[in-house]
Amino acid sequence: MQNNESFPATRLRRLRGSAPLRRLVRETRLSLDQFIMPYFVREGRGIVEPIEAMPGISRFSPDSLLPELEELVEAGIHSMILFGIPDLKDEKASQAWSREGIIQKTLRAVKKQFPDLLVITDICLCAYTRHGHCGLVNEKGEIDNDSSIRLLADVALSHAEAGADLVAPSDMMDGRVKAIRSALDVKGFQNLPVMSYAAKYASAFYGPFREAAHSAPASGDRKTYQMDPANRKEAMREISLDLAEGADIIMVKPALAYLDIIREASQKFDVPIAAYSVSGEYSMIKAASEKGMVDERNMVMETMTSLARAGAGIFLTYYAKQIALWNNEPGFALTSLVSNS
Ligand code: PBG
Repeated sequence: MQNNESFPATRLRRLRGSAPLRRLVRETRLSLDQFIMPYFVREGRGIVEPIEAMPGISRFSPDSLLPELEELVEAGIHSMILFGIPDLKDEKASQAWSREGIIQKTLRAVKKQFPDLLVITDICLCAYTRHGHCGLVNEKGEIDNDSSIRLLADVALSHAEAGADLVAPSDMMDGRVKAIRSALDVKGFQNLPVMSYAAKYASAFYGPFREAAHSAPASGDRKTYQMDPANRKEAMREISLDLAEGADIIMVKPALAYLDIIREASQKFDVPIAAYSVSGEYSMIKAASEKGMVDERNMVMETMTSLARAGAGIFLTYYAKQIALWNNEPGFALTSLVSNS
């Protein structure tokens, strides 16, 4: 038996006694300012095409994206990232850097109507090449690093010229941040920041995205350029290199299975850290909640809180708009994990 004099000093339950008290001592708070909503855009007009593997998420043609963005901004999200799905795929990924490419057209339309929305673009080749790899493939069938980074720099520049506010290379080629930074600087875009997918793992959690963006590799996998999920120290090397090459924000991807990487990165590097809660993370929660197995909202908010607790300050999630809509419901505040908690 504990005696009354020593035991009560350790009653941690004292600070859990009521909702306002729990809110008062909460260590991690979220704000809508930290969220980035991803969008898939494809050629055409009037298209809102649901993605089977990601219930609630659609591909938009540029014209139908505009009313959707109206809702996004109205809900309180002010940042988004664009992924393009071109009609034409070829060996040179020409639609990735063409002035008339799907992203370039969308950027012009979006920036015209929403000058204050932060528009980020994903820089990669996988959706634009027939082989579906993130870099160019040479005669020997290998992913050719150095010709790929030159092309990726052209892609980034074409996005900058079309109005992108921030570019985010996701290809995982070596030296791409430096190539992109120099290409931007030479053309007067010194102030355009780069968010690098620095620690990006070869992950099964990207499955639904590849259906969404039609970007699955036609043969082979991405293991020669994306990181081995078993490696932690290597992630720190990737991040240091990207920072040395001029990255402004670094990203860890996926998020939930990589909280240790987010934690370590946030302790080692004094830069903003983004966590990408990827398509598979979205679809897992969606599928389980559609079956009535879990509470969707609580599970989403607990997940986002854990990313923040681990050290991320920026969250890319397909739930961003939904979180903002929930946040506007009476009785729910983003700083709380559940209503009136
Ligand atoms: C392009 C890219 C991918 C994702 C973001 N950019 C797919 C991949 O690397 O295979 C994944 C995003 C997600 O799963 O939500 N390289």
